[in-house]
Order: sequence, then structure tokens, then C-alpha cells
Amino acid sequence: MKITLTVNGKKYEVDVKPNETLLDVLRDKIGIKSVKAGCWRGECGICTVLLDGKPVKSCLVLAAEADGSEIVTVEGLMKDGRLAPLQKAFIEHGAIQCGFCTSAFVLTAHWLLSRNPNVTREEVIEAINGLICRCTGYEQIIEAILAAAKYYKK
Ligand code: FES
Ligand code: FES
Repeated sequence: MKITLTVNGKKYEVDVKPNETLLDVLRDKIGIKSVKAGCWRGECGICTVLLDGKPVKSCLVLAAEADGSEIVTVEGLMKDGRLAPLQKAFIEHGAIQCGFCTSAFVLTAHWLLSRNPNVTREEVIEAINGLICRCTGYEQIIEAILAAAKYYKK
């Protein structure tokens, strides 16, 4: 079947099979390799993207179910080719090591801070609870998110 996805503001028409996941379509048909695949079964959260504004594990979403929706990947947070303050905060706080998990954490943090810029440390920990990072020990990620909160305050 043919579906339409808007990814980072650009429209794509793609042919998908009924059992194809959003993860596979984003990576293999649209070519967005920042969306990583870890476990393929909803456990690591590394495949997270924003679907109509909310974080979803794209390995658990059928592409057909996402027909007509708006997807944001980590590239979608950049403005005029420049990193967003949140992305810079990840770099400045050493919250990126191998980088495999980074898109998922940044997108989840963006969703969280957009809803609640006065977020507490506990709320950050709760929001990133379903995401696995094998490198950083999480502390730097939490610090980066808390530091970036000021950019979301109006
Ligand atoms: S690849 Fe989707 S949750 Fe692990
Ligand atoms: S930075 Fe390597 S898995 Fe998180």
C-alpha cells in the first residue's frame, strides 16, 4: 500500500508492506539513518522518533498505522543547518559517547521540555526511563537535559 509521511516537514509517499515497521521505512525507504535499531522489540527505546509530537518506539509502529502522520527525527530539531541548544547541551555535557542512543534521548528530551520547561531531575529520570544508553551512565544526559531547560522557557 502507498502511505504518506511528513518527515521533518518534508512529504514522502512510500510503498509499504502491511508488516513493515516505521523504523524500517524511515531507515531503508526514506534514508534517515539517525533512527537507530537496537532490539527491534520495544525494549531499548533507541528507535524513538516523535510521531505527531509524541515519542514512540518506531520498531513497534507499523508504517501503515503512521499513514498521514508527522514524524520528527533528530535532524528536525536543527534550524538553518545549526544544532538546537538542546543538541549543543548534549555535546557540552559529554552526554554523547558512541552516539548510538543520542537521537532517542534528544527527541525524548525535546518532547519533555516542550511540555514542561520547569522539569525536575526526577521528571527527567522518569521520561528517559525506557531508553538504554550503554556508555554514559546517564548522569551526563540528565545534566544536559536540565541545562537545556532554560531554552524552552518563554
Ligand atoms: S529498536 Fe525499538 S525499542 Fe529497541
Ligand atoms: S552514548 Fe553510547 S549508547 Fe549512549
